Amino acid sequence: MSGKAHLSLIERAKKARLNAFAPYSRFKVGAAVLSGSGKIYSGCNMENASYGLTVCAERNAVAAMVAAGEREIMAVAVVTDLKTPASPCGACRQVIAEFGPGAKIVMANLKGAVQVRSLSALLPLQFKKQKK
Ligand code: THU
Repeated sequence: MSGKAHLSLIERAKKARLNAFAPYSRFKVGAAVLSGSGKIYSGCNMENASYGLTVCAERNAVAAMVAAGEREIMAVAVVTDLKTPASPCGACRQVIAEFGPGAKIVMANLKGAVQVRSLSALLPLQFKKQKK
């Protein structure tokens, strides 16, 4: 992925962030997934009065990709307004790994700070269903 591709992924994540439904935490997150076909799918966090039902932005973006019939993740961008770009939570790392074990994770904030890591660096020894 080029620096330019990172930027368009970040832009889509920023746009999705504006739709975040986060009345309880007041912490808005946007995510965008670059699929195997080269399309971008985005998502935002969606909270619930029953707090534990909250779904992160990353998992909503992955679900949008899967619902469109795609099964491969090349990269995921996540955008927050924190001082240091936030990295995906552990649950989202495992969900990303299902479709993109080699994915690049692009973490950005609204001030233009960007950090890039591979998913395998963020999630060593991911859980995999193995043959018995
Ligand atoms: N959140 C995300 O959307 N992605 C993450 O990687 C971490 C946390 C959301 C969930 C909740 O709506 C809010 O941030 C506070 O935890």
